[in-house]
Amino acid sequence: MCGIVGYVGNRPALNVILDGLRRLEYRGYDSAGVAVLDGRGGLAVERKAGQLRNLEARLDELDVPFEGTAGMGHTRWATHGGPTDRNAHPHRDGTGKVAVVHNGIIENFAPLRAELEAAGVELTSDTDTEAAAHLVARAYADGPTAGDLAASVRAVCRRLHGAFTLLFTHAEHPDMIVAARRSSPLVVGLGEGETFLASDVAAFIEHTRDAVELGQDQVVTIRRDGYDVTDLDGNPAEAKPFRVTWDLAAAEKGGHDYFMLKEIEEQPTAVANTLRGHLTDRRIVLDEQRLADGDLRDVDKVFVVACGTAYHSGLLAKYAIEHWTRLPVEVELASEFRYRDPVLDRQTLVVAISQSGETMDTLEAVRHAKEQKARVLAICNTNGAQIPRESDAVLYTHAGPEIGVAATKTFTSQIAANYLVGLALAQARGTKYPDEVAREFAELEAMPDAMAAALDGVEAARELARDLAPSRAVLFLGRHVGFPVALEGALKLKELAYMHAEAFAAGELKHGPIALIEDGLPVVVVMPSPKGRAVLHAKLLSNIQEITARGARTVVIAEEGDETIRPFAHHLLEVPAVPTLLQPLVSTVPLQVLAAEIARARGYDVDKPRNLAKSVTVE
Ligand code: AGP
Repeated sequence: MCGIVGYVGNRPALNVILDGLRRLEYRGYDSAGVAVLDGRGGLAVERKAGQLRNLEARLDELDVPFEGTAGMGHTRWATHGGPTDRNAHPHRDGTGKVAVVHNGIIENFAPLRAELEAAGVELTSDTDTEAAAHLVARAYADGPTAGDLAASVRAVCRRLHGAFTLLFTHAEHPDMIVAARRSSPLVVGLGEGETFLASDVAAFIEHTRDAVELGQDQVVTIRRDGYDVTDLDGNPAEAKPFRVTWDLAAAEKGGHDYFMLKEIEEQPTAVANTLRGHLTDRRIVLDEQRLADGDLRDVDKVFVVACGTAYHSGLLAKYAIEHWTRLPVEVELASEFRYRDPVLDRQTLVVAISQSGETMDTLEAVRHAKEQKARVLAICNTNGAQIPRESDAVLYTHAGPEIGVAATKTFTSQIAANYLVGLALAQARGTKYPDEVAREFAELEAMPDAMAAALDGVEAARELARDLAPSRAVLFLGRHVGFPVALEGALKLKELAYMHAEAFAAGELKHGPIALIEDGLPVVVVMPSPKGRAVLHAKLLSNIQEITARGARTVVIAEEGDETIRPFAHHLLEVPAVPTLLQPLVSTVPLQVLAAEIARARGYDVDKPRNLAKSVTVE
C-alpha cells in the first residue's frame, strides 16, 4: 500500500507533490521519490530510501532545478525488492524519458523482466514496477501505439496480471500524466486550471474537493484543464464524480475517526493482496522462499513462535497445518520459546510470525532456532525488517502499513499467510494433490468477499458496544478454531478498553472458570458452524445453557441462519457461512469492532492505547 500523487497545473509541481506525499506517508514510508517535467523535454527524478524527510533533504542538497508544473511522487511500502534507493519509485526506462510510480503487485513481473532482458534491456532494480516503465517506453517508441502515451499505457496494462495503480509521465508530454488502475485505489482531483491524481483524497483536498473515482481497468489522462477516461481498449469510459466532505484528518483515516476503524474495513483487500500471486499452475509459490520443496519435504516438526495477536494467528496455523500435512505443530509464545530449551534440529521448521518484523522476543526466538540448526520461515508485513532478514525464507503479508496499535488487518492477513504455508507444506509432502491445493486456495480466495459481508453486518456489534461499555469484565469462549478467536477478542478488549477480559477453551469452563459466572456477566461465545463439526456446535450450545442458567449475558458470534442458537443468545452477531478452518477470518471482525467501539464509548484513544507501542523492540 503505497502513496501516490500526480499533478498537472500552473503551480510549481514539486511543492504540490511533496505536500501531497506528506499527507499519504501513513500509506508507506520505506522510500519516497518525485519526477517533475520541466516543460523543455526534461524529466527530473530524485528518490531516496527511508521517510519522506530523507528525500526532502536530498532535494535541498541538489542544485538540479526541479522546475515544472507537472509531475508525480511516491511513498513506498515495499513488496517486491527491499526498501533501498535503487528500488525506490519513480522508475525510468533506459532513455530516462518515461517514469512510472506504482501501488500494488504486478504478478507476472518475472516473465516480463525476462522478456525485456532477452531484448537487451538492462534492469536496474529488483522491483516488479520497473518493467512497466521499459514496456511503455518501447510501446511508445515503436509499433501501433508509437507516439501515443495513453495508447502505449493501455497496450502494456492489457498484459499485466495482478493489482496496480500506475502513473506514467513522458518527457515529450510535459502537460499530461497517464494513469491506470486495477484493484488498487486511484482518484482524480479537479481544481481550477489544475488536475490531481492520488491514492486517496487526503493528498489534494486542501486544493479541491471535487473528485472522480476511477473504475476497474480504466485509464485516465490528466491535463491542467481536465481529464479523459477510457477502458483498456481505448473506448471512452465513465468514472464516478463525487464531492469530498471529509476534513483532512478524516481523509487520512478514510472518513473514520480512527485509523484502526479504517484498517478493520481494509481487511478484505489486505487478505486479497496477501493471497495474490501465490498460486500458479496449481502450485503454491511463497515469496522469497529460499526453502526448496525438498527442504519443506524434510520437515518433521513445526514450531510457530510469535507474540500477542501474531501468536493467536499462530494457534490457528496449528489447526490447518496439522490437518493438511499430518505434521506435529507446537505453537509457543516467543518470549517463552528459547527459555524452555525446545528440541530443534535441521528437520524442524520454525515459523516466526511478526507484522512489524522487529519484535525482540520473536527475533531472539529466531536467533535461538537458527543456533539449533532449525530452518526459519518468517511471516511478516514489513519488507526488509530484521526478522525476515535473519530468517531462511519469508512470506510477506500485504496488509500495508497498520497505524493503529491494535493489530487487525495484519492479523487476518497472517491467518491467510499461515494457511499458504500449510498448503505449501502439504504440497511438498504430497499430503495434498495439486487439485486439492487449488481447491483449498480457491476457498481462501473467496474469503475477502465473505469478510466484506461480515463488515456489512457489524452495526449490531456497534450498538452492543455502547451497552457493554460499563461492564467490569467480559469472558470469551470458543472451541477448536473458535478458541484462538476468543483469545484475540479478549486481547482486543484488554488493550483497547482497558477492561478485564479473559478467554477460555469452552471445555475448560467446568474445570474452574465457571465459578466466575455471575448475574449479568457478559460472555462472548464464538460458535462453530452447525454444518461443520456438529459435535463442537452441540457442546458449545450446552456451555451456553450452563452459563445462562447462572445468569450470564451471552453475546454469540454465529453463522447466519443458525436458528438453533437464537433462543440462547441475549445478543446474536451473525457472520457469513464459510468452511470451518476459514471461520476465524469472519468471526474476528465483529470482535474487533466490539472492542474498538467499547473503547470509543469509554472515551479512549482507539489508535494509541495507553502503555502500548506498535512494535515492541525490547524483551
Ligand atoms: C496486538 O493488537 C498488539 N499490538 C500486540 O499484541 C502485537 O500483536 C504483538 O506485539 C506482536 O507484534 P508483531 O506482530 O509486530 O511481532
